[in-house]
Amino acid sequence: MSSVSTQVIDDILVVLVNNPPVNALSWHVRQGIQDGMEKGLADPSIKAIVLRCEGSTFIAGADITEFGKPAQGPDFNAVLNMIEMAAKPVVGAIHGTALGGGLETAMVCHYRIAVPSAKLGVPEVKLGLLPGAGGTQRLPRIVGIEAAATMCSLGEPVAATKALAMGLVDRLAGEATLAEDAIIYARELIAVGPRATRDLPVQGDVDAIENLKTVNARKWKGFDAPYANLACVEAATRLPFEDGLKFERTEFLKLMGGSQSAAQRHMFFAERQAAKIDGLPKDLPLRPVNAVGVIGAGTMGGGISMNFLAKGIPVTIVEMVQENLDRGVAVIRKNYEASAAKGRFTTEQVEGMMALLTPSLRLDALADCDLVIEAVYENMDVKKEVFGKLDKICKSGAILASNTSYLNVDEIAAATRRPQDVVGMHFFSPANVMKLLEVVRGDKTAPDVLATAMATGKKIGKVAVVAGVCDGFIGNRMLSKRQQPAMQLLLEGATPAQIDKVHTDFGMPMGPFQMSDLAGLDIGWHRDPARIESIRDGLCAAGRFGQKNGKGFYDYDEKRVGTPSAEALAIIEEFRATSNLPKRDISDQEIVERTLYPMVNEGYHILEEGKAQRASDIDVVWIYGYGWPIYRGGPMFWGDLEGAGKIVEALERHGVPVAASLKAKA
Ligand code: 3HC
Repeated sequence: MSSVSTQVIDDILVVLVNNPPVNALSWHVRQGIQDGMEKGLADPSIKAIVLRCEGSTFIAGADITEFGKPAQGPDFNAVLNMIEMAAKPVVGAIHGTALGGGLETAMVCHYRIAVPSAKLGVPEVKLGLLPGAGGTQRLPRIVGIEAAATMCSLGEPVAATKALAMGLVDRLAGEATLAEDAIIYARELIAVGPRATRDLPVQGDVDAIENLKTVNARKWKGFDAPYANLACVEAATRLPFEDGLKFERTEFLKLMGGSQSAAQRHMFFAERQAAKIDGLPKDLPLRPVNAVGVIGAGTMGGGISMNFLAKGIPVTIVEMVQENLDRGVAVIRKNYEASAAKGRFTTEQVEGMMALLTPSLRLDALADCDLVIEAVYENMDVKKEVFGKLDKICKSGAILASNTSYLNVDEIAAATRRPQDVVGMHFFSPANVMKLLEVVRGDKTAPDVLATAMATGKKIGKVAVVAGVCDGFIGNRMLSKRQQPAMQLLLEGATPAQIDKVHTDFGMPMGPFQMSDLAGLDIGWHRDPARIESIRDGLCAAGRFGQKNGKGFYDYDEKRVGTPSAEALAIIEEFRATSNLPKRDISDQEIVERTLYPMVNEGYHILEEGKAQRASDIDVVWIYGYGWPIYRGGPMFWGDLEGAGKIVEALERHGVPVAASLKAKA
């Protein structure tokens, strides 16, 4: 069946796109739209044309799978020009999402009608691109400079009701009557005639563009696409339409040919791929998750609970001591109230979420929960004790999850008589904010338990990735391959600030030592100030525990801004002197080779051992769990760009055992 069909309804021709799942503009869709338009324009009995889509959405953009492949079918811009220059009125009828090339198609339609629930936007910036089919030139002619610059550079869609106020939509249809309402509208427009967007004036204040750059400077650090989007909108304010299109084309091709967009497009598919579990049918029946239990009301347990409450799922939170329980509940309330103050929730919503929370001092309170997540102290004996108790308390079929960040999930499962119901659900701190969820599949985890944990992650807005049982799973296992050599580099003469700067210049939100300070240097410390066997022991012995007490590798002010610390440097130097290693200048390149290349290498080990399903899952872990810059596409994608040969050569030079599969690739 063809992906575009036409229907004649009296004097109106409807061009109907049907290209599931999202009506992307694949070559055959462009061809079909062109053919349909030609038919309508050539037929004198047709007085107006409606462009509409079947399925759940209007056109959601160009077909991203076609990018980088030889062009097929008619040129997109040629099809758009044809619609815009049509001598009969053309109406775009929008439901679902009109995104990217989809909105660009809607913008060459002379008029737009949309259902109230529709969303319209140009999210190309999120793929490291810009709306490259006239979007940056037409949008300012419809909504003005500021709104166009905002939409293009941030990529957030607007609701149809707002689009109506902005002039991006001309009329709202009934939610269920778009097809009929679009015909009625088209018929009214026969007397009015076409309106070519390119002929509209660009209105508004160009200063809005500079303002956006200032406001978003931090967010856009390292990214090319937001600036290219703004340059194009700015060009629309001073260039004739055709010249603006040429400017846009040049900028689009630059982005399309660059590594940032390649990385961001890779991540678009990687994120969707991560949800798929190899070997399990897509339609495997899931277990219900309508009531959740969380054990531990500390930072982690509280953060985990917030995810469920925000989705309307009741949570029973259990602590051993009343004071800790009260404190945990108060922190949840405080966090929600802070969000409400920023306008993210109403006070009623905050009360609604808090009403779904049941604090308890008894594990028995979890008897009826469908899913229980344990977030207690990271100690195997403690975890085993908790799971042994849960085994006796929880109803049959309940999923028993551990939030452990590195412990053996199989050993934890063995403390129960139902290891098939046990799974790891490793959230990242702060758990209500960070998007990553590592779902750890034990040897005996039942397929429906794994699938339910993954689906639950998606439901609460996380990007879930399957990991196998191993020390630190995917994320923390690779992290340790970065932290260890970073410490070693201090012994050879580098400073924390130098190493951290290499990482932040690379695009990480923080470097290894800033991260250690944030996590707390005293975690796992033996607490004997006389025993100094590492730099960390020396710092802890001097009472330098990290951000929590204002001093660690750095000194912190009251706003938690760190500056290099003379005391910490002296402690490092004192310990360094005992190592008998010569002090030398360390280059930034060496820091990359010794702290980032081993992570890539570890990724290959993880794949060889089957602890991750695919390389792109590892990228997802690092982007969403640790803030690896998305424009570098995750460690595995980045490793490919660097080149396996170069990485292997450097690892061998530094004496790091190289994964066989990485070596083979080189
Ligand atoms: N091209 C090709 N495939 C696409 C696609 C696109 N533009 N958009 C989505 N898909 C695929 C997904 O990969 C997924 O495939 P899978 O089932 O095999 O994993 C499937 O469609 C369903 O997608 P989602 O899982 O994301 O479905 P949702 O219902 O959650 O979301 C959506 C739907 C909001 C449309 C979301 O898919 C989306 O945001 N898509 C991308 C929109 C976009 O970025 N458009 C701009 C493209 S670039 C462009 O237009 C350039 C132009 O300016 C020249």
